[in-house]
Amino acid sequence: MGSNPLKLGVLVSGRGSNLQAIIDAIERGDLEAQIAVVISDKEQAYALERARKHGIEALFIDPRAYKSREEHEKVVGDYLEERGVGLICLAGYMRILSPYFVKRFQWRIMNIHPALLPSFPGLHGQKQALDYGVKISGCTVHFVDEETDHGPIIIQAAVPVLEDDDEDTLSARILEYEHKIYPRAIQLFAQGRLEIQGRRVRVKGAPGNTWAVVNPPLEG
Ligand code: GRF
Repeated sequence: MGSNPLKLGVLVSGRGSNLQAIIDAIERGDLEAQIAVVISDKEQAYALERARKHGIEALFIDPRAYKSREEHEKVVGDYLEERGVGLICLAGYMRILSPYFVKRFQWRIMNIHPALLPSFPGLHGQKQALDYGVKISGCTVHFVDEETDHGPIIIQAAVPVLEDDDEDTLSARILEYEHKIYPRAIQLFAQGRLEIQGRRVRVKGAPGNTWAVVNPPLEG
């Protein structure tokens, strides 16, 4: 890792398995970044405990303590800036960010969504996919813009929907790929290889295609 690794601020609300995948990728040496701070809007989020176990600063910032969404976001943003965060990773953060926050950190916020956007944005992407009857779903890492689950797409992984899937089994299959593609997308950012051109994100300087993941590989 270089002497000035990219500093991440990870925003969470719940169990934090994507946070764990990021921590693990850093510890394995697959991701040249460091997590400067983890911030939750929920005091009981297990993600906070995961961070602390790895010696990472973990803060609960209670939205109810502020008069408006922007006021809460201003405090969160100040914490992130004070710690020199260069990229904010939303990892199961259950709050919609206001235009104020998105503009303040423009193209420095990523999100992971458990569906192949633009299909099934919003809550319960996996259930939406099942109910709709698609045969393939997956997950998407994208930059955050002012619309929910909408910004330029960095990596997607496709996952089959099986005959006897329910929400839990499909979610688990998708989650496995979330954990692969989120650290990979962050690493591309850390390497300065992502270039946003309108809605398209170009990945500079890589041989082959590592940002569209199809599982399982096609046979026959
Ligand atoms: C993941 O499915 C992610 O795609 C979605 O929220 C869930 C968070 O899970 N945005 P975890 O807290 O990272 O385990």
